[in-house]
Amino acid sequence: MNTCECQLNKLPAHTSDLTLFQSLPTTHMLRTLILEHARIFAFLSELSSVEQQLESMDSLDDNPDIAVQMRYLVDHLLRSERHHIREENVLIRRLDKMKVYAPGNDIRKQHDVLRVKKRELENLVYRIHTMYFTDFKKEVKQAISHAVSGLQEHIKLEDSVLFPTALKHIPEDEWAQMKKECDTIGYCCFTPNSKTELIEI
Ligand SMILES: [Fe+2]
Ligand SMILES: [Fe+2]
Repeated sequence: MNTCECQLNKLPAHTSDLTLFQSLPTTHMLRTLILEHARIFAFLSELSSVEQQLESMDSLDDNPDIAVQMRYLVDHLLRSERHHIREENVLIRRLDKMKVYAPGNDIRKQHDVLRVKKRELENLVYRIHTMYFTDFKKEVKQAISHAVSGLQEHIKLEDSVLFPTALKHIPEDEWAQMKKECDTIGYCCFTPNSKTELIEI
């Protein structure tokens, strides 16, 4: 049961191919991954807005709530492990076995690099009360900018190359078994409901 209040009913679509998303049955694992990407993009745009708010602040007293907001966002970005495991174990491993060219190794490496960037951001965010604000501001802005650009690039690669390649090469009768494997791995607290709409932007 989902106990986190991070669900949204409508999400801006960041997928390069909304038609692909709309063509998938609601239970399709790729549909879930694309919806999760849209949710992650929404966290990232909130994080970019935090970065802008910090710009105009001279001390934490100007907006003490920003500490809570940053912790909420970084905690959610760190809760995407099961998303990555589904991509690697269910999708990429299959494409590797089929010897289909897909950017599988790049994606695995990016998962590792992004995990480090998210942990760095987390460590910093939790030091907000123990660092000089000017130092914190400078370091956190840089860490946010690295995490946001890295994740955006990563998601774009998966949406525009990995998912269409998988759809093209993996036989249709395989996807029901893949969905079962995904169910066994599990989902994230922010995994959107399968009926969530993507709005064109
Ligand atoms: Fe990924
Ligand atoms: Fe992904």
